[in-house]
Amino acid sequence: MIKKMTITSIKKAKGVQPLVMITAYDALFAKLLEPSSDMILVGDSLNMSFAGKRDTLSATLEQMIYHTDAVCTGAKNSFVVCDMPFGTYSNKDDALKNAIKVFQETSADSIKIEGGEDKADIIEYLCSNGIAVCGHIGLLPQAVRGEGGYKVKGKTSAEELQLIKDAQAIESAGAFCMVIEGVKADVAAVVSNSVKIPVIGIGAGKDVDGQVLVFSDMLGLFEEFTPKFVKKYIDGASLVKDAVQNYSDEVKTKKFPKEEHTY
Ligand code: KIV
Repeated sequence: MIKKMTITSIKKAKGVQPLVMITAYDALFAKLLEPSSDMILVGDSLNMSFAGKRDTLSATLEQMIYHTDAVCTGAKNSFVVCDMPFGTYSNKDDALKNAIKVFQETSADSIKIEGGEDKADIIEYLCSNGIAVCGHIGLLPQAVRGEGGYKVKGKTSAEELQLIKDAQAIESAGAFCMVIEGVKADVAAVVSNSVKIPVIGIGAGKDVDGQVLVFSDMLGLFEEFTPKFVKKYIDGASLVKDAVQNYSDEVKTKKFPKEEHTY
């Protein structure tokens, strides 16, 4: 039986044990990923790897709720974080209304929102209304169109200072942890050391409090592009294609089904 993480155990892990976070979008994969992960993120990256769109911006709250519910059903012992999609937390009232919908319609343990100091008042409002919040600072995928691309952060001392302010503002607002994405490794380490809550990196080097990867990236299933920070632990796309080709060949040559597959 897997022991489910809690906000308390996640916070206590800082400086003790790196946290393992991975994305999942459905019950099938969530169940497979659960034994080896501390937290499952239903990321809005599903809009790219699952729905085939060019970025995350068109993901809807209904989509996120559908996938989060599936993940919670498949991985009952996982701490599940639901990513709030673009445009659903632009002000306090929308943020709370939409986060409550996620909590009422799924058993997600937390939501995640992108932004730093500029989102601190919204995070504080959510936390004071019973919503557990995971922050997300650094490269913000939902800002891709506004910024004209995916921009690595922490390249100047002004950016470094802003990242520290972002992390501290999120912590003071009540977030229990945060993701830091696409940030120079030495800067991410400084940011992580500037707060008491866990800072989970993606493309932010090793000196943070844990790592998160998109499951379809690390399993080599997503073929459109591979960010520098992704390690492919298997070549999933080739494995799947080879297996399906094998099946196709066997159907055409009538090698499948055999006696043992027949009633
Ligand atoms: O949507 C997502 O999968 C994410 C991760 C990249 C952290 O936000």
